[in-house]
Amino acid sequence: MTHMHVAGSIHADAAAGAPHWLRVPQEVNALVPQLWSRTTRRAEDGRLEVGGIAVADAVAEVGTPVYLLDEVDLRARAKEFAEAFDGWRVYYAGKSFLCTAVARWVAEEGLGVDVCSGGELAVALRAGVDPAVIGLHGNNKSTAELEAALDAGIGRIIVDSGHEIDRLERLTRERGTTARVMVRVTTGIEAHTHEYIATAHEDQKFGFSIASGHAMAALLRCHESDTLELLGIHSHIGSQIFDTHGFEMAARRILGLHADVRDATGVEMPEMDLGGGFGIAYTTLDTPSTPAELAGSLRRIVEHECRALDVAVPALSIEPGRAISGPSTMAVYEVGTVKPVVVDQGVERLYVAVDGGMSDNIRPALYAAEYSATVANRASDADPRLGRVVGKHCEGGDILVRDEFFPADIAPGDLVAVPASGAYSRSMASNYNHVPRPPVVSVRDGQLRTLVRRETLDDILALDAG
Ligand SMILES: Cc1ncc(COP(=O)(O)O)c(C=O)c1O
Repeated sequence: MTHMHVAGSIHADAAAGAPHWLRVPQEVNALVPQLWSRTTRRAEDGRLEVGGIAVADAVAEVGTPVYLLDEVDLRARAKEFAEAFDGWRVYYAGKSFLCTAVARWVAEEGLGVDVCSGGELAVALRAGVDPAVIGLHGNNKSTAELEAALDAGIGRIIVDSGHEIDRLERLTRERGTTARVMVRVTTGIEAHTHEYIATAHEDQKFGFSIASGHAMAALLRCHESDTLELLGIHSHIGSQIFDTHGFEMAARRILGLHADVRDATGVEMPEMDLGGGFGIAYTTLDTPSTPAELAGSLRRIVEHECRALDVAVPALSIEPGRAISGPSTMAVYEVGTVKPVVVDQGVERLYVAVDGGMSDNIRPALYAAEYSATVANRASDADPRLGRVVGKHCEGGDILVRDEFFPADIAPGDLVAVPASGAYSRSMASNYNHVPRPPVVSVRDGQLRTLVRRETLDDILALDAG
């Protein structure tokens, strides 16, 4: 199928083989601002710069592949959420990316931290995050993880199954203590990029279903417990959400449940969490809302529903992850080989192979996530050519950027920067093919700071017990 390309007929040849949404750039060196962190720009010498340092100079010091994290950008996004959602509590979803420095930065900007394993909890605690603003998630928390949460006295545990409630009750009784809990519910609404689905998403591992009555039973169970303090309902409906319609539908259902609990017990639960999932720009297709726009919509939705149900507005919280960490970071790779490959009907695609791959960003392989990229070490006068950035792993699906235009003279030794790589890249990285994981290096005012060091072959070999 052919598409009339958005850039017009003069670009028709260059556009052949590209998805219809991908514009042939008028200027191949130009940056699309919404994709890049706030301090990223192309300097006059043509080199990409972030945090006051040329990417090429940064990698001369720290090597490739590397995740370069723009501290000013990440802090600014955290602060914008805290300010826009004033009166609510914002928990940074640590699963998107967590290290002690980032945990400290978001706490300094006024956020709590949401963790979903004993490992993430240990990082948040080591960072000095106040346990009162840490929440623990997980559909199968171990006894050791629950004990660590109780030892630390964290602010809330989001319970996800009947067995977990049993376990937590037993542990709190044994210790003569109490735990503050939220009940994770499944609303039957699941939102993903550019769509939401209002039915049939009960069939998944997270939460207690509202439709089946299990959510109500779990809430009543926690309400009646003498060692669990029930804070309220927790709902997370998905990821990369661009409109608030899914939240509206979910809010209607969870506030209905909130009112049912009030009717059954005579008590209005004090809190409610609407989860995370706010979308960011990975490509020119994506048009994220600002935190202020999100806050305005979510406040309106909740207040409207509470009025309709005649319940007080509970103390609300949200859990953004990628909207804070994602856009702050670019992944930088060095090109090793460039191979023209003839695809459909004589259309040629440049396969640009870099020194990383699916081990440092599994998202394209895992769920066909789209990314963008640019050459970072120079500007070029060459025409745009359609390319695909692939990794060095032994998998045909080892793709980092499926479709992007690069200057036709892209060559080994060039640096390729991939924006929006701060969330679910390093945090989901693996050692596939025994490839060491890249470091996370922050940049600010021309200074580099290693937040997570590069893994070495010695690190990997040290695990091999012979
Ligand atoms: C319970 C919960 N909260 C928050 C998040 C963060 O989502 P995002 O990074 O898309 O904002 C997730 C992501 O999976 C989640 O499962």
